[in-house]
Amino acid sequence: MRSTRWKAASRAAIALAGAGALAAGMALFVTAPASAGTTLGASAAEKGRYFGTAVAGFKLSDSAYTTILNREFNSVTAENEMKMNATEPQQNQFSYGAADQIVNHARSRGMSVRGHTLAWHSQQPGWMESMSGSALRQAMLNHVTQVATHFRGRVVAWDVVNEAFADGSSGGRRDSNLQRTGNDWIEAAFRAARAADPGAKLCYNDYNTDNWTHAKTQGVYNMVRDFKARGVPIDCVGFQSHFNNDSPYVSNYRTTLSSFAALGVDVQITELDIQGASANTYRSVVEDCLAVARCNGITVWGIRDSDSWRASQTPLLFNNNGSKKPAYDAVLAALNNGTTPTDPPTDPPTDPPTDPPTDPPTTPPPGRGGSTATVSTNQWPGGFVATVRVTAGPPALGCSPVSTPPPTGPSATKPWSHTLARTALPAT
Ligand code: G3I
Repeated sequence: MRSTRWKAASRAAIALAGAGALAAGMALFVTAPASAGTTLGASAAEKGRYFGTAVAGFKLSDSAYTTILNREFNSVTAENEMKMNATEPQQNQFSYGAADQIVNHARSRGMSVRGHTLAWHSQQPGWMESMSGSALRQAMLNHVTQVATHFRGRVVAWDVVNEAFADGSSGGRRDSNLQRTGNDWIEAAFRAARAADPGAKLCYNDYNTDNWTHAKTQGVYNMVRDFKARGVPIDCVGFQSHFNNDSPYVSNYRTTLSSFAALGVDVQITELDIQGASANTYRSVVEDCLAVARCNGITVWGIRDSDSWRASQTPLLFNNNGSKKPAYDAVLAALNNGTTPTDPPTDPPTDPPTDPPTDPPTTPPPGRGGSTATVSTNQWPGGFVATVRVTAGPPALGCSPVSTPPPTGPSATKPWSHTLARTALPAT
């Protein structure tokens, strides 16, 4: 019997790797979308990742905007519509219309949704800004519970807490009304989120945490390490990665991603934009993510430069008229040239699985025509790689060509982290 936590992890992170071995040389899983290699989302999906964008709800009526969105991306983050001031404008009166519109747009087109964000010192509704102490703590936890419950099953990963660390050299927490409720406010938020939506991955998200040597990066790292050691339910860390002249991309970015991943969490690049949109820098970011097995995907913070919160920095992949920029070509090429994460992770977690499944690999009896299927898993906290091996019997025995579709149901609804592959063996 699998534990609840394991089921949650299974729903959230399916990777089917090295899937098919065919004695008769027949195809098993053919999963590459027709557009693989030609769009960001499809190319990322081929590498077991997602490629997403921030979406502003009011732009969904702009056909130039939605044409690019629907063509290129397979993950969506609401730019503002899930923030505390948007979802709970009056205490205990929740407002989900704008967020639901984005979620429905995404999910009806097969895109996954990142939730942003449940608890943040900024963008609080006025009633919350003036609260403090235990009343604020309770209000925050109620917000986390209500919002995560509303979106349960529709959000694959939540930025549970956003930007809680201070800039500068302290490496400590940012002062805020939430911080003043007690240092345990972050873990309390994570526990509430887990209880409300056990199937969602729970992330801590921040900016200026890209440079491995920075105190803020180390502060977040130490918190995550402590959470993992004490069993606080954290699954992932989001790196906003707003790169600009004051906070540039650095070559130790890959070290940062892999070091966090080695703690036993997934890592995600959650708000990428780069001042000037250097093609080389965008390429490096993609290559760094692909080099880290637990880097699930990349989200750019807007589609066209004119959609950016920093439009004057022209930091995105499409120019104002929707044309692809050189950075777009660099990203697509990097995705297509990248390695796949179908091998066991190169950065295994330091923690053992907390609740591995007890079901042994199954070997069903041969079916009609002698076909067999086996499933085995390699799991770690928060995810696993399942290897499915199907051996088709000889056609002479009347076995139909294998046409098994990808698995359906909740265990395969997270396109950001499931990859289907086939291995066609030479005909014997
Ligand atoms: O909705 C009102 C609109 O009614 C009004 O007419 C208009 C006038 O300025 O303001 C609109 O609200 C603005 C909102 O964006 C929607 O455009 C807010 O003033 C403005 O503060 C808000 O800025 C957002 C900012 O977060 C603050 O929440 C940006 O769009 C959004 O890109 C930015 O995103 C953040 C991430 O959440 C966290 N990481 C940093 C990132 C960039 O700042």
